[in-house]
Amino acid sequence: MKIKILLVVGFILFFVKFLFFSGKPAPPEVVSSCPPVTAPFPSYDAQFAPTERWCLENPHRQVFQLSQNYGEARRKTDELLAWKQIARTPEELKTKWKEYLFAVLHYAYEGNLETDWTAQENRRRKWFHAPWMHTGATGREFLRGLTVERPSCAKELIEGKICDDDKLPIENWAVSVYNEPGAFYINEIWTEMLKQKPNPKNFPSAGFPEGTVAIKLLFTQAEPDYLRSSINWQADIYRGKMPPQTVRLLQIDVSVRDDVSPTGWVFGTFVYHDDAPMIFYPVELPIERQGWLRVVPLGLMFGNEPAQSVLNSKPLVPQHFGCGARLNGPVDNPKSSCLACHAQAEVPLDLNFNRLNSTYPPMSCDAETDPFWFRNINPRSDRKEERTLSATDKQTVSLDFSLQLREGIERCCAKNGCQCRQENKE
Ligand code: HEC
Repeated sequence: MKIKILLVVGFILFFVKFLFFSGKPAPPEVVSSCPPVTAPFPSYDAQFAPTERWCLENPHRQVFQLSQNYGEARRKTDELLAWKQIARTPEELKTKWKEYLFAVLHYAYEGNLETDWTAQENRRRKWFHAPWMHTGATGREFLRGLTVERPSCAKELIEGKICDDDKLPIENWAVSVYNEPGAFYINEIWTEMLKQKPNPKNFPSAGFPEGTVAIKLLFTQAEPDYLRSSINWQADIYRGKMPPQTVRLLQIDVSVRDDVSPTGWVFGTFVYHDDAPMIFYPVELPIERQGWLRVVPLGLMFGNEPAQSVLNSKPLVPQHFGCGARLNGPVDNPKSSCLACHAQAEVPLDLNFNRLNSTYPPMSCDAETDPFWFRNINPRSDRKEERTLSATDKQTVSLDFSLQLREGIERCCAKNGCQCRQENKE
C-alpha cells in the first residue's frame, strides 16, 4: 500500500515539474538527409561529401561508412584457416599456389558478397577499413570509399604492354578491407597516433598477427571487351563536378600474414575476365553480383627473390608482370613488385616523411637500384637491419607491409589531424 502511495506521489511530482519547469523548448533539430559525419575517423572528406540535394534525390543509395570498430577486433580468432592446411612450407606455396589463393579469396568473399562489401554488416565475420585515407581529391569518395590508384593506358590493360608514366589517361580506384587480426594491429597503431605526442617507437614490433588478411578491390574507368559483364560500381570519381560514374571490377589483390613465408607475407592477385570459369560460391548471388566469381589468379609471391614468385603462364589477358618476372598486378607499376613496393610501409621516427622519401632511390628496375628494392625484409627478423627497407640507420620503424597504414599516417600528419610536429618529441 505504502509503495503505491509513494508511486502516485512521485508521479504527480514528476508531472508538476514537467508542466512548470520544463524550461525553454529545445531548438528545432536540423534534419539532414545525409548521414552524419562518422567518428573518430571520417568516412570521406567533408569537401567531397554528398550534397543535401543528392541525398534527398537518392534516399535509398547507400553512402560509404568506414568500418572502424577496431576495439572489438580480437588478435586471434579460433577459426581454422583453410590456406594454412594447404601450404605448410614455402615449396607448397609454389606448388599449390592457386589452391592457396582461392582459399584466401573464398574467406574474404564470405559474407562480404552478401552485403555488397558493407564490411560492418558482414554476418560471417567482421571486416574493417583503414583510417585516414579520406583526405583530398585522391581520398575516399562518398559512395564506396574508393581512393585513387595508379592510372593505366589502354595498351597496358588490353595487350599487357607498358606505357610511359606520363601517358596513363585511364583512372583506377580501389578500396580494401582487413579482417579482425588486421584490425587489431590497426587499432594499436592508431591508438598511438591519436595521442598528444605520438611516438612510432611505441608501435608494437610484432606487427600484424599471423592470420591477418587484407583484400583490395580495384575498379577501372576503362571498358575493354573482357569487362563487359564485370561488376559495375558507381563512384564519385569526378568529385562532385559530374554525376557519379560507372567503374568496373578489374583486379583483386590479397595479402596474408603467414609464418610459412620468409617475409611473413604472401601476396596474390586476380584479374576479372568475362570468359573466366565461375568459381564455386555456396550462396546464390543476384546476377549483377555474379561477376565476383569470374576471376582468374595471376600469381603469388612471398619474397623478392625471383624464385619466390609464381606467375600464371596462361592468363586470359596478356599481362605485364613486375620487375624481373616478379609478381605485380595489371594496374601496378611494372618496374616494381608487390613486396618491393609494400616494403615502403615504414615510418620515420621523426614522422618527417618528406625526408624519408628523399632517401629512396628511383624504382627503375635496373642493376643500380634493384639491390635496394628487391631485398627481403621481415619486421620480425632477429637482425635489425632486415626489419625495415631503410634499416636502422635511417631511423624508421616498420608498418609490416601495410601501405594503407603508412598512407593514412602521412595524410594525418599532413592535415595536422595527428600531432606530428616533432618539437613535441623528447
Ligand atoms: C608501386 C607500388 C605498389 C605495388 C607494386 C603494389 N601495391 Fe599494393 N598498395 C600500394 C599502395 C600505395 C597501397 C595503399 C593505398 C591504397 O590502398 O590505395 C596498397 C594497398 C594494398 C593492399 C591493402 C592493404 C595494404 O597493404 O595497404 C593490398 C592487399 C595490396 N596493396 C596488395 C598488393 C598486391 C597483391 C600487389 C601485387 C600484385 C600489390 N599490392 C602491388 C602500392 C603498391
